[in-house]
Order: sequence, then structure tokens, then C-alpha cells
Amino acid sequence: MSFPVGVATVFAGLLIWAVLLVRGLQTGLYRNAIYCGIALMLFMNMGYVINGVPASIASFIGIYDVLMNVGLSPETSAAAVSMCADNACTAWGDVYTQHPAWGAAFYDRFANGPAFRSQLLYGHIVFNSIAFVLLHVQLFRPGYGSNRAAHRVIGKMSFICLTISLVCSVWLASEHGAVQAYGGVLAAYGFYSMAAVVYACAVMGVLALRRGPDGRGVTAHRVWMFRYAGAMWGSFWLFRVLLFFTDPLFRDYEAVAILISIWISAPAGAVLGDLVRRRLDGTTAGTARHRELSGIAN
Ligand code: HEM
Repeated sequence: MSFPVGVATVFAGLLIWAVLLVRGLQTGLYRNAIYCGIALMLFMNMGYVINGVPASIASFIGIYDVLMNVGLSPETSAAAVSMCADNACTAWGDVYTQHPAWGAAFYDRFANGPAFRSQLLYGHIVFNSIAFVLLHVQLFRPGYGSNRAAHRVIGKMSFICLTISLVCSVWLASEHGAVQAYGGVLAAYGFYSMAAVVYACAVMGVLALRRGPDGRGVTAHRVWMFRYAGAMWGSFWLFRVLLFFTDPLFRDYEAVAILISIWISAPAGAVLGDLVRRRLDGTTAGTARHRELSGIAN
């Protein structure tokens, strides 16, 4: 077996991230943890462009194989566990022969599917990764004063990237009715709902700006953009971190783990984004600065 360097790097990255999160909890400063989450996302997603879809999916599944196989002997089988042809769907070689069933199906869909399907996946991954990075540029450099022009341009670029990415993802999701290991129609509608939550937050944020220059529009814009950021973090990171634990927990129940991630990640992320904004507003000078810069009377 060749050692799965990519999987090991992701585990090392997750460990560093956990340390930064704990430090964030201690100090109240989360910027390093946020940067680490973005860097790890880019590392994982750029793999698709560099190594191609099948190799990257095998690496992705290799991450989940580790916990999924705890306490599972090669002879036993479970409803949400499956094998794949030539054991090609994992970066672990023959170390693990049983995989999350959604993972084996994911690999099969792209390794043995039409080229157009992979192109849709590239479109989704590349444009969503750009939108994910840009949303942080926007949050860390809000559009007050001299930042205003750049904020507007980046905001438009971001919105276009998000739209392209979601068209690709909804297209892919429309094929899921036939994929039982994902949950069939429930997965398709789950992904639609995920896209709807993320897009609704972004659209509401843009529409809010039409409420006029008195500052209220800017306040509502900020509220929706924190929700949007939360929904994006949810649909990428909460989705994948949840699966880490739900995969082994629900391995006796077909598609339950993946369906939980599909249905819960984006709305839970949006709620968390809102809570973060409320906390910032309640405990720091952030609101005062926002009110001053956007011209809202105290
Ligand atoms: C916004 C809501 C989102 C929806 C509705 C969505 C939907 C999807 C769908 C349908 C697939 C393909 C599964 C298949 O056809 O077999 C997928 C895979 C993927 N998505 Fe998304 N996604 C969302 C958010 C994101 C975000 C924010 C990112 C990156 C920043 C992202 C990155 C990926 C990646 C990398 C994959 C391949 C699997 C992996 O390696 O993680 N997605 N997504």
C-alpha cells in the first residue's frame, strides 16, 4: 500500500484546527481558526483540479474509512457500509475494504460516469471555493468608507460564482433520485433545500441594500451576510465534520448519516452564523463601529 499522504495531511490539518479552536475559545479571537478552516478547505478542493476527480474522491473517502471501520470486521456487513470494485474508491489500498456506502456510490458515479458529470463537479467545487474565500474578504473588509467600491465589485463577483456553483450542484443533485446509498429522492430534495438556504441568505442580503441609504439597509445586509457565511460554513464544514461521527454511529441504517448532513448542515450553519453576529454585537465594539460607519443614529 502506498501511504495516503493526502488523508494524513487532512488529519494533521484537523488536529491543528482543533488546537486553534480551543485557543479561540480561550482568547475570544477566532481569526487563526477561520484561516485554518479556509486553508484546509482549499487544500482538499484543489486536489480535484490537480489530481482529478476519481483520485480526489478516493482520498476524501479515505478520511471517513478510518472511523467507519472501527469495530467492523471484514466479514460483517451493515446497511450503510459497502465494498467497491477493485477497492479503488479509497486512498488506503487494501487496509480498508469496507467503506461508507455513500462514498462507494460517490466514487462510482464519477469514476464510471459521463465526463459531463465530472465537469459539473469541477464547476461546483471551483466556483463554490472562490465564493467561500471571497465571503471572508467581504466580512473582514466590510464596505464602509474607502472600502465601498472594492466591496461592491467583490460582492458582484462572489454572487456570480455562487450562482454558477449552485446551478452545477442542483444539476448533480437532480440525478440523486436513483442513488439509494445517498437516500434517493430524499437526498435530491435535501440538496435542493441546502442550495435554497444558502442562496436565499445571499439574495436577502443583496435585496436588503435596496432599503435605502439611512443605514437600516446596511444593517439588514450585514445580518443576512452573517447568515450566508454560516450557511456556507455549514454546507462545507459542518456537513463533513458531522459525517465523521454519524457515519460510524448510523452504519446500520441505510443513508441516515448522509441525509442528516444534507438536510441539517446549511440551516444549522445559518443559525450559527446569526448567533455569532449577535454575540459580536453584544460583546464587542463591533456594533458601535458598524453604527458609526453606516451613519445610524444611536
Ligand atoms: C451551498 C450549498 C451546497 C450544495 C447544494 C452542494 C451540493 C453538492 C453536490 C450535489 C455534490 C455532488 C455529490 C454527487 O453528485 O455525488 C457536492 C460535492 C462537493 N461539494 Fe458541494 N454543495 C454545497 C456547498 C459546498 C461548498 C460551500 C463547497 C466548498 C467551499 C462545496 C464543495 C464540494 C466538494 C469539494 C464536493 C465533492 C465532495 C468532497 O470532496 O467534499 N460544496 N456538493
